[in-house]
Amino acid sequence: MTLIDGKKISELIKKEIAAEVLKIVASGKRAPHLAAVLVGHDGGSETYVAAKVKACELVGFESTLIRFEENVSENELLQCIDQLNHDAAIDGFIVQLPLPKHISEEKVIESIDPKKDVDGFHPVNVGRVVAGMPAFVSATPFGIMELLRRYKIETSGKNCVVIGRSNIVGRPMSILLSQKGVDCTVTLCHSKTKNLKEVCMQADIIVAALGLPEFLTADMVKEGAVVIDVGTTRVPSDQTKSGFKLKGDVKFDEVAPKCSYITPVPGGVGPMTIASLLYNTLLSNEHKIYP
Ligand code: GUN
Repeated sequence: MTLIDGKKISELIKKEIAAEVLKIVASGKRAPHLAAVLVGHDGGSETYVAAKVKACELVGFESTLIRFEENVSENELLQCIDQLNHDAAIDGFIVQLPLPKHISEEKVIESIDPKKDVDGFHPVNVGRVVAGMPAFVSATPFGIMELLRRYKIETSGKNCVVIGRSNIVGRPMSILLSQKGVDCTVTLCHSKTKNLKEVCMQADIIVAALGLPEFLTADMVKEGAVVIDVGTTRVPSDQTKSGFKLKGDVKFDEVAPKCSYITPVPGGVGPMTIASLLYNTLLSNEHKIYP
């Protein structure tokens, strides 16, 4: 069994990005600039956004954090997005999800200029991914594809089961895995799927992205399978300073011995999401997706 080291690969990617930033700045252009909009004080969102800002510093990007209180109006948020859309000094920005209930996430995502949508959530970018066109690809699926590529994991003709159909992870993942050149046979499973265990037992590659801690157990996994764990549920813990720890969607201890490759939580997919976001921002700065 090989443990897929997302932390190591993400650090490698960040080094590659930092080298590219040095070249950009040496040529007299400005460094890439990512902005993040954070509404309220959700613990998980605070942690993720802080990690994104820190990662920007590490690779030499400019970063801007814009904070709003929980009770910000939808209009005020949309105005802020409009300003960011028109700010020539910003290459890309994200609005951290989830948003408070009184704000429509759909409206917010649709109001982001697709050319600055480095999260890859805008329907234009989602549609371009489906059509196989250059696009900002949602960071987590993009990061998982990069892990498969860098570990030289064979995908052509393999049976791949994706569990979870979220707009951010499961669905784009299923599209990327079925693309020409990747060539998996993909089954996208969800809460209404029948015989999930039997379906998973046929899988050469399983992507668990449903957000239920330790959902995938050894009896659902074929010997030699590749298992990618996207779960990051925060559960209380008295062993950590923060008072919680992250739990994946895979019962790691019993599943890992059956696998050819597996991602741990933490240190697997999570760090790759941030590396992908930085990479998308670099692509935006260089006008690589929308020339
Ligand atoms: N909430 C959970 N994951 C993400 C992400 O990748 N981007 C944004 N904007 N919000 C999130």
